[in-house]
Amino acid sequence: PIKACIFDLDGVIVDTAKFHYLAWQRLARELGFDFSEEDNERLKGVSRMDSLNILLEIGGVELEDTKKEELANKKNDWYVELITHMDKSEILPGTTEFLTLLKEADIKISLGSASKNAKMILEKIGLLHMFDAIIDGTDISKAKPDPEVFLLGAKALNVEPSECVVFEDAVSGVEAAISAGMYVIGVGSKETLHRANDVVQSLAEMTLDRLAK
Ligand code: BG6
Ligand code: MG
Repeated sequence: PIKACIFDLDGVIVDTAKFHYLAWQRLARELGFDFSEEDNERLKGVSRMDSLNILLEIGGVELEDTKKEELANKKNDWYVELITHMDKSEILPGTTEFLTLLKEADIKISLGSASKNAKMILEKIGLLHMFDAIIDGTDISKAKPDPEVFLLGAKALNVEPSECVVFEDAVSGVEAAISAGMYVIGVGSKETLHRANDVVQSLAEMTLDRLAK
C-alpha cells in the first residue's frame, strides 16, 4: 500500500523555472554570453552551485571558487527578488486539490527539493501546512540523481521507500527516485521523462485511483 507521496517543488508544485532562468540569464549577460532556454533544461533539478558550473561551462568561463561563491549568491539575490510577489496564483493546476485528496486518504506528504528557498516558497503560496515533512537543499549533501533527498523524506515520515510515490519534472529527479527504490510519476513530457513509471502533464490528472495503480 502507498503510505506517502514525495513532491519535488520547482516545476511540480510551482512554476519557478522561469524565474530561475531569468536570474541565470542576467548573470550570463553580465559575464558576456547568451544563455538559451534550451540550455536551461540542463539546470532543472540541479543544485545552485552545480547549475553555476554548467552555466560557466556553456559560456566557456573559468573562475576561482571564491568568485563562484559570489556569483551564486548574486544569482540567488536576483531570484529571491523575482519571487518576492509570488502567491497562490503561481501554484500549478491540480496541486492543491490533489494534496487535499491525499490528506483525506491519510497518505503522508513530503517535499523533496534541491532548493534552499523551498520553505519560503511554500509559505508564500500558502501550502506549507500541507506537508508532514520537508526535505530541501539545506538538508542534503548529495544532489539528485543521488537518492538522498527522497530517502531522507521516507525516513522523516517513518515509511519504507517501497511505500512512497515520487512526483518529479526533472530527469535527474526521476533517476533519484528510481535509485531510492520508489515508484515515480513524471510531471511533464513523456519523451523527456520516459524512465518514469507513469507520466502526467500536471497534477490535475492525478486521482487516488491512478495512484493506487
Ligand atoms: C531545483 C531547481 O529545484 O532547485 C533548480 O530545479 C535550482 O533549477 C535548484 O537550481 C536549487 O535551488 P535554489 O533555490 O537553492 O537556488
Ligand atoms: Mg523540479
